[in-house]
Amino acid sequence: HPVSSPDRAFSYLRGWPGIALCSTFANKAPLMSEKFPILVTGGAGYIGSHAVLALRDAGWPVVVIDNLVTGFRWAVPEGVGFVEADIGDADAVSAALTAHRIGAIMHFAGSVVVPESVENPLKYYRNNTANSRTLLEAAVTCGVRHFIFSSTAATYGIAETVPVREDSPKRPINPYGMSKLMTEFMLADVAAAHPINYCALRYFNVAGADPQQRTGQSTAGATHLIKVAVEAATGKRDHVTIFGTDFATPDGTGVRDYIHVSDLAAAHVHALEKLIADPASSHTMNCGYGKGFSVSEVLDAVDRATNLKIERRFEGRRAGDPDALIADNSKILATLPWRPQRDNLDQMVQDALAWERVLAERGK
Ligand code: UFG
Repeated sequence: HPVSSPDRAFSYLRGWPGIALCSTFANKAPLMSEKFPILVTGGAGYIGSHAVLALRDAGWPVVVIDNLVTGFRWAVPEGVGFVEADIGDADAVSAALTAHRIGAIMHFAGSVVVPESVENPLKYYRNNTANSRTLLEAAVTCGVRHFIFSSTAATYGIAETVPVREDSPKRPINPYGMSKLMTEFMLADVAAAHPINYCALRYFNVAGADPQQRTGQSTAGATHLIKVAVEAATGKRDHVTIFGTDFATPDGTGVRDYIHVSDLAAAHVHALEKLIADPASSHTMNCGYGKGFSVSEVLDAVDRATNLKIERRFEGRRAGDPDALIADNSKILATLPWRPQRDNLDQMVQDALAWERVLAERGK
């Protein structure tokens, strides 16, 4: 039976010992005026740790849940609650939701490496799909009202039109994109059946780092272009490989819509406020700047930032790389008061480079 109110949800579930932990909060709606605690899954990771900073800077109490497989304990600032657990652990999630009286979840935890998803699809369907289901069930039974989900432009596959709109066909070409799209489907069904609303944000190419260098992309074995390039700029690598020079783009290299991670984090805070203000509505929105840069243009920006010329080598295309992927961002601009503050490739590269230097000083 779908439940239409938290009171009904509570009475319906009262006899079930598994959710007893949630009972104190299940029928207590957070007041609009009060800033209730937000659970950030994957808050010790790259994008999640920037969202934690943005939430804190906006005055929200935050609790992080992270299994520290790719995240770092040091990335969680002082004053932020921390639960070391996997979001697939239903008891740990329910206990955290109840103990901290969580009113909304920002869900970043997941696996993000596209080629790995092709080799090990079940890892992606577990971490990104099955564990999201577990988290969502805990959210519903514990009366969490709002859910923000890290989705991806990989849900589109090879976009038919560029810039790509949210209502474009979703035909993922890898298990990563499919695992995220399946969670979008779950969210839509859950929001229709239960008193919870959601915002799925489809990220384009996230790059850069906190301009105050409080956090940044720190996971080893990077594959993303800007991270790889700043690693080369700080001597961690001796060259950058350009994958493909025969794309249908002005200079033949792949074109992407790079968005600064701090702008992306700010979009999450606006999305949260929107979900609270209008609890009957849910949203799915692209997160990008709506313009593209080629691989060569990105590497030129890195050369400008360092005043060096990083060696460029050339290889064939990676499997499944589209020519160009650019967001149509008119929906997010129309829905949220969010406006990009760091829509500047040179600034993005400089912030990524500054963070890479912090890591190098730490011997990482
Ligand atoms: N590239 C290189 N050399 C490298 C790394 C990347 O030439 O060493 C090129 C790629 O071929 C592509 C561009 O740089 O043209 C960007 O590649 P990234 O690996 O940085 O990012 P992707 O565009 O492949 O994918 C990213 C995320 C996905 C997300 C997608 C959505 O990894 O999770 O953006 O746009 F789905």
